[in-house]
Amino acid sequence: MASLIYIEASPLKERSHTIEVAREFLDHYRERNPADTIQTIDLWTTRLPAFDGVTIEAKFAVLRKNAFTAAQEEAWHAVRAVSRQFNAADKYVFSVPMWNFSIPYPLKHYIDVITLAGENWTWSRSEGYRALLSGKKALLIYSSAGSYSLGEPASHADFQKPYLRHWLSFIGVDDLTEINLAPTLADPDVVAQMKSEARSRATTIARSF
Ligand SMILES: Cc1cc2nc3c(=O)[nH]c(=O)nc-3n(C[C@H](O)[C@H](O)[C@H](O)COP(=O)(O)O)c2cc1C
Repeated sequence: MASLIYIEASPLKERSHTIEVAREFLDHYRERNPADTIQTIDLWTTRLPAFDGVTIEAKFAVLRKNAFTAAQEEAWHAVRAVSRQFNAADKYVFSVPMWNFSIPYPLKHYIDVITLAGENWTWSRSEGYRALLSGKKALLIYSSAGSYSLGEPASHADFQKPYLRHWLSFIGVDDLTEINLAPTLADPDVVAQMKSEARSRATTIARSF
């Protein structure tokens, strides 16, 4: 029995392109893997702890192997709980619209909260940075109004996909599958065709994910 976490970054819900494709995937995945657990993290309704000054001090206490103050202990406890929930899953699905060439801010907040020294990465003078997660896989469902594919004039401005790939690799999630629904600014019939292809890809991926 595997556990899957679905992280939803679009606030548009019923009108969201990425959520529609993610739901298609999840429906088929659930059907094929009835014993697996699926948790949804809707980043627009989940209250996350602030990654504030005390939390940063706690992070450096961990890296320097210093004892926590009471305030640092409390701050670390709060972010560690969110990180451990993420780290405990076997599989991840992200639905991610492009926002200002990158990702929506609640997803960045979530990434900052869960990316913790000693939990999913570590650093030492001898080894440098080392990822602590392994054996996990992720499906990333992206969308953008424009097209940023390789060879397009705007490809250099895509800080959405390269960022997520790099972050996942930093913590040790290397087995990535991607669906990209773009450009959603195209004519409605073109978008409808793209959507239908993306949904059908999601169904195929769900068979072996
Ligand atoms: C605040 C905001 C910023 C956006 N920034 C970009 C952008 O930089 N580049 C782009 O191509 N599309 C941008 N878009 C458009 C969305 O990426 C696009 O509509 C996408 O299909 C939305 O996915 P969703 O329906 O799952 O939310 C932006 C949309 C919003 C709401």
